Amino acid sequence: TDLSKIRNFSIIAHIDHGKSTLADRLIQHTGGLTEREMSEQVLDNMDIEKERGITIKAQTVRLAYTARDGETYELNLMDTPGHVDFAYEVSRSLAACEGALLVVDAAQGVEAQTLANVYQSIEHDHEIVPVINKIDLPAAEPEKVKAEIEDIIGLDASEAVLTSAKSGIGIEETLEAIVAKIPPPKGDRDAPLKAMLVDSWYDPYLGVVILVRVIDGVIKKGLQVKFMQGGTQHLIDRVGAFTPKRVDLPEIGPGEIGFITAQIKEVEQARVGDTITTVKNGAADALAGYKEVQPVVFCGLFPVDAADFEKLRESIAKLRLNDASFSFEMESSAALGFGFRCGFLGLLHLEIIQERLSREYDLDLITTAPSVEYRIQLGHTKNEDAKSIMLHNPADWPDTNRIEVIEEPWIKAVIYTPDEYLGSILKLCQDRRGIQTDLTYVGGRAQVTYELPLNEVVFDFYDRLKSISRGYASFDYEQIGLREGDLVKMNILVNNEPVDALSLIVHRSVAEERGRGMCERLKDLIPRHLFKIPIQAAIGGKIIARETIAALRKDVTAKCYGGDITRKKKLLEKQKKGKARMREYGNVSIPQEAFIAALRMG
Ligand code: GTP
Repeated sequence: TDLSKIRNFSIIAHIDHGKSTLADRLIQHTGGLTEREMSEQVLDNMDIEKERGITIKAQTVRLAYTARDGETYELNLMDTPGHVDFAYEVSRSLAACEGALLVVDAAQGVEAQTLANVYQSIEHDHEIVPVINKIDLPAAEPEKVKAEIEDIIGLDASEAVLTSAKSGIGIEETLEAIVAKIPPPKGDRDAPLKAMLVDSWYDPYLGVVILVRVIDGVIKKGLQVKFMQGGTQHLIDRVGAFTPKRVDLPEIGPGEIGFITAQIKEVEQARVGDTITTVKNGAADALAGYKEVQPVVFCGLFPVDAADFEKLRESIAKLRLNDASFSFEMESSAALGFGFRCGFLGLLHLEIIQERLSREYDLDLITTAPSVEYRIQLGHTKNEDAKSIMLHNPADWPDTNRIEVIEEPWIKAVIYTPDEYLGSILKLCQDRRGIQTDLTYVGGRAQVTYELPLNEVVFDFYDRLKSISRGYASFDYEQIGLREGDLVKMNILVNNEPVDALSLIVHRSVAEERGRGMCERLKDLIPRHLFKIPIQAAIGGKIIARETIAALRKDVTAKCYGGDITRKKKLLEKQKKGKARMREYGNVSIPQEAFIAALRMG
């Protein structure tokens, strides 16, 4: 295709402002799907994505639009994941586009969350086309929203497109604006092939499908290519695009976005951000911006029922086929038996995997305390030289006497928030050992920058931030390396037995408070037994917090079990069910939910 006829763009929108509805309308208008096929929103297609309203995997559709100038344009609409855990994938998707539609709800106006995405888009030199949606609403105030876009974001909104994605108003105008305002891509058809690997996923029929943006040259079936960062070679066996139906194409030329397959069995071999070139006469340099994504949060996953171990192994292996950023290795724990130590990009990623395992694979799991990865310098002993180790499992904590230095990962976080929530947000960051490095105002909104230890962020920072700002604050972060910290391992003892799944690594300055919080929460989470159960937090041999669960009074149970036989049966059944979701520790049963819930800081 002639470069001047191509437009590559993404859609930026706050949750619920109408991104999916608008995308569907654009697809419908350009004839990508029939009315009946439109009945399901097509861009967000995973169940969990739908329920949580977030996009996990980027999807791209190619639309053919015949514009008012009589020319037919190829529009590539790229959907981007919307969560910090997937920031790198987002950055690659944005790098594959030249512009973006900024969708703003005509009744709600610009919301803080949108800002971070807009700035990211501007960083990629995108042309941004404002679209004011939901103009059908009685509360719509398009003129006010235009002024907001200009004041808050600094974009010219005088030519903003007014739409109602729901009623199909302004759809053609949106398509015309895309053609007129978003610049066509640049590229050289005769130069050596250079294509960016934007995304990859596993398809049971096709194997690994790779989404590419061709920069220079042409990708065709039968071409022998190499992945410059991954160092592997592959024979291209299929080339095509999604309209959103999958169609095969003879080639993908410069400036175009499409997919390829090459008999690849694991997504791990198709890393996002890699550069694809030909084996013969290939490009000399790889594209800038490649980053190997590494898991940053680790936890153990154990089946509640030990007999499910094999099933868990198979299920994890299957998920991993589709998600190279998730890592796993076998782990055994004294109390939990066999399970896996898994690595994730962040807490949301962890929750998604955990949810898929329980929902799609029907597994009841115990998740141990999430941890980041520490570097520990160990002094020499009689039998061993000094050495440095990486550690992300509290169970592997070395002999404390041998520890010389512990370093923990830090991040730089940028938070955008309406002014009114700033005070509470500063307090939250301060409580999490944050160091404020910058505070500026961008049109009535504060932008605050903090350096924070990652281990203070992984548990529930994001949830807390959202709740104290009623969803308005946005959060973006990048890792800035390791720093020395006074970290200790805290054990939780239930009925005087250490529960390894609950032990965690914390900073000494917050250990006591965390320990107290965990004991208090566990007191509520663990049901009463026939005996008294002490719950303690300890560092080494020193108890730093303690709670006691009172014993269940005998006569209470006696009453339950007496009398009516059907009632008794019901109770027993209930008990049996309850049991499957409990884990026995010595003679104490700890419910499955307790393991994660105990970690949520108050
Ligand atoms: P997320 O996928 O959660 O990010 O939301 P989204 O931005 O994709 O919004 P979505 O398209 O799912 O729309 C959110 C809600 O707004 C839905 O209930 C839509 O039916 C409704 N909606 C979308 N466009 C319009 C519109 O033009 N007018 C009105 N009245 N409602 C709309």
